[in-house]
Amino acid sequence: MGAEQLGKSRLLNLLFKPAGATMESRLRRWLMPPEKTLRGAGLKPGQTVLEVGSGTGFFTLAAAEMIGPSGHLIAIEPLADYAARVTQKVRAAGLTNVEVLCRDALDTGLDAASIDNALLFGVIPFPSLPLDRLLPEMHRVLKPDGSLAVWLFPTTAGVPTAILRSGLFTGLSKKHGVYAFERCEAPGGSASLK
Ligand SMILES: C[S@@+](CC[C@H](N)C(=O)[O-])C[C@H]1O[C@@H](n2cnc3c(N)ncnc32)[C@H](O)[C@@H]1O
Repeated sequence: MGAEQLGKSRLLNLLFKPAGATMESRLRRWLMPPEKTLRGAGLKPGQTVLEVGSGTGFFTLAAAEMIGPSGHLIAIEPLADYAARVTQKVRAAGLTNVEVLCRDALDTGLDAASIDNALLFGVIPFPSLPLDRLLPEMHRVLKPDGSLAVWLFPTTAGVPTAILRSGLFTGLSKKHGVYAFERCEAPGGSASLK
């Protein structure tokens, strides 16, 4: 069963409720303000940004503010309750540049070469987001000059090296704890992350 089907399970949504409360806690916001971390992603006004696994929207509103009303933020979250919470926050903030999709990031259904910047913030390593499937999908949806911004917490677990080894992205920078990668043409057309 894929993440999209699992995300509709009432039991799973119930089990993830406490995690959602932790994700949006004041302590977390105080310890690691989302605006500060997002600065490492190099978001610019007017960009089309994809946020993978938005959870309850800890980074969503700040990212939407950074790209401004001419930008477009697509937040993907398979857990129905989390996605509903993000939608609620977006409405309450009066933001009109955010689209929340209850989907699996491994198969986004988004157009190829449509995204300027894809955010993987606090989502990998995660069992339902294997890099050998996630990276090719991010590579597909990113524009030729697009970038991938990765914030890893609590552990990097060899992820930056694995991203480089895929041959789909090259290293760009590390700022505010965020690794930024540039999309490159895949030599063999597929990621190999063993
Ligand atoms: C640890 S939480 C982080 C949430 C948010 N980025 C944050 O930092 O507060 C990981 C999120 O990834 C989502 N997720 C898991 N598998 C996914 C998939 N295949 N596609 C998209 N999101 C997924 C989970 O539902 C969860 O909300």
